Amino acid sequence: MGDCRGDRLRACCFITILVMLLVCCCTNGEDPYRFYTWNVTYGDIYPLGVKQQVILINGQFPGPQIETVTNENLIINVFNSLDQPFLISWNGVQQRRNSWQDGVYGTNCPIPPGRNFTYTLQVKDQIGSYFYFPSLALHKAAGGYGGFRILSRSVVPVPFPPPAADYTILAGDWYNKNHNDLKAILDSGHDLPFPDGLIINGRGANGYTFTVDQGKTYRFRISNVGITTSINFRIQGHKLLLVEVEGTHTLQNTYDSLDIHLGQSLSVLVTADQPARDYYIVASTRFTSQVLATTAILHYSNSAAAVSGPPPGGPTTQIDWSLEQARSIRLNLTASAARPNPQGSYHYGLVKTTRTIRLASSAAVINGKQRYDVNGVSFIPADTPLKLADYFKISGVFSLGSIPDAPTGGGAYLKTSVMAADYRGYVEIVFENPEDTVQSWHIDGYSFFVVGMDRGQWTPASRLGYNLRDAIARCTVQVYPKSWSAVYIALDNVGMWNVRSENWVRQYLGQQFYLRIFSTANSWRDEYPIPRNALVCGQALGRRKPNENL
Ligand SMILES: *[C@@H]1O[C@H](CO)[C@@H](O)[C@H](O)[C@H]1NC(C)=O
Ligand SMILES: *[C@@H]1O[C@H](CO)[C@@H](O)[C@H](O)[C@H]1NC(C)=O
Ligand SMILES: *[C@@H]1O[C@H](CO)[C@@H](O)[C@H](O)[C@H]1NC(C)=O
Repeated sequence: MGDCRGDRLRACCFITILVMLLVCCCTNGEDPYRFYTWNVTYGDIYPLGVKQQVILINGQFPGPQIETVTNENLIINVFNSLDQPFLISWNGVQQRRNSWQDGVYGTNCPIPPGRNFTYTLQVKDQIGSYFYFPSLALHKAAGGYGGFRILSRSVVPVPFPPPAADYTILAGDWYNKNHNDLKAILDSGHDLPFPDGLIINGRGANGYTFTVDQGKTYRFRISNVGITTSINFRIQGHKLLLVEVEGTHTLQNTYDSLDIHLGQSLSVLVTADQPARDYYIVASTRFTSQVLATTAILHYSNSAAAVSGPPPGGPTTQIDWSLEQARSIRLNLTASAARPNPQGSYHYGLVKTTRTIRLASSAAVINGKQRYDVNGVSFIPADTPLKLADYFKISGVFSLGSIPDAPTGGGAYLKTSVMAADYRGYVEIVFENPEDTVQSWHIDGYSFFVVGMDRGQWTPASRLGYNLRDAIARCTVQVYPKSWSAVYIALDNVGMWNVRSENWVRQYLGQQFYLRIFSTANSWRDEYPIPRNALVCGQALGRRKPNENL
């Protein structure tokens, strides 16, 4: 570069900057890397005593846990050894500026059988408990999921002493049917039957043991990884001290049991302060007419007795109990999360909203088949991932504005629905549930403040009851039957983001759409460029990425 002068100097500098940007854009040089190689295969497992073809990752079900620290870079090379296309997505892990890595069909081409794809994620500015899962078809009903925890950097205080151990519990409903058969039921236009049971960490009743030392305190990170039902979680004879919900440190309240809705994650501290024996850890279905339950074991290392007798029952009251509990889960304003400054230093309640979006989902029969819609639109996937169609400017794959901002009251129809939204908008989203079943909504790429939830119909007057001071920030929110939940969301993450039901039947049958957060700047500060290894498919086949030959 010594002879850079005049025009050549400008060209040199341009190239130097370009190279620097290329090196810095997708990863942050200062932050450590972790490398994973995952082989996704089928294997025979007996989760509920019935032999089943389960999706394994490196031979494990649940898959290997990801344990990382805020801002680290993860390079995850996924080899698809199944007989069908496959993708993994990261429930609640935000992938800032990088929806290219989100691993849902709207953002990524499926990894073909026998091929691999390397995800490059940075867990930027985030802490908390999450999970990953297979996002295509009904793969999630066959396992393929695992825990994903992001620990605080050492310079950021955690608002409780380090626990003696940090355990993951992935609990949820389970079907004994093969995932292909479950998908065939949905494809033929029917709902799934009631699940066959519940599992904890891939095992049925008393199949899993957590060992504790008397007198010590343990962290349990619990996620509902199920397909169709909310669960209640409890530990016989022990209190649950709630400390974290999807990356937010909560007011540390004590509970006898906690409702965990589909796709939600939380952390509790449990002190082994009871007589030395074994105790039941229980998960049971909520808001279902028939109640399924399963147990794992809390084993004191100096235990004098095994579990005996019936496991403790869950709450007997339904919506009001759960609603009251949900409202008690609030932000600890003085605690830190991913950054050293307190969570309360962002005054989310004082920011003026720029738009209100009301989303109502209900069941609909379209062309004789069971479907679910959002504001009248039942999502159908396009032949090309929307993110790629957007990038390559392939017209006809989707159109912006293909889903209205509010319920229309009209009939439901099929469409590849994409909603446009402005980068840096500050939006109020009201989820409305006109049905008799609890719903669970998730937004990829984001965390939002749950400012209110109540029974009945939302009206502008409902805003008077919003919690504008210490509402919890999370990525998945339940909406009780014939009720609403309202959230505030700062649209600070450019990309194509999936907004979906975490009930996998409803998601598969249309309760989802994509939110396209667009920045006119077209700058790498706002959004990372298309990855060099991005797979192409559909109408994007044969299109060349600009950085392909670098
Ligand atoms: C994945 O596992 C299968 C079955 O064990 C094996 O045949 C295959 O070679 C493995 N692939 C990779 C990339 O490790
Ligand atoms: C597949 O894995 C190889 C290493 O085994 C890697 O070099 C390549 O980039 C991976 N492919 C994709 C598309 O990520
Ligand atoms: C809130 O967090 C602080 C740490 O900043 C902690 O000392 C306090 O106990 C927490 N308060 C509650 C009510 O959880």
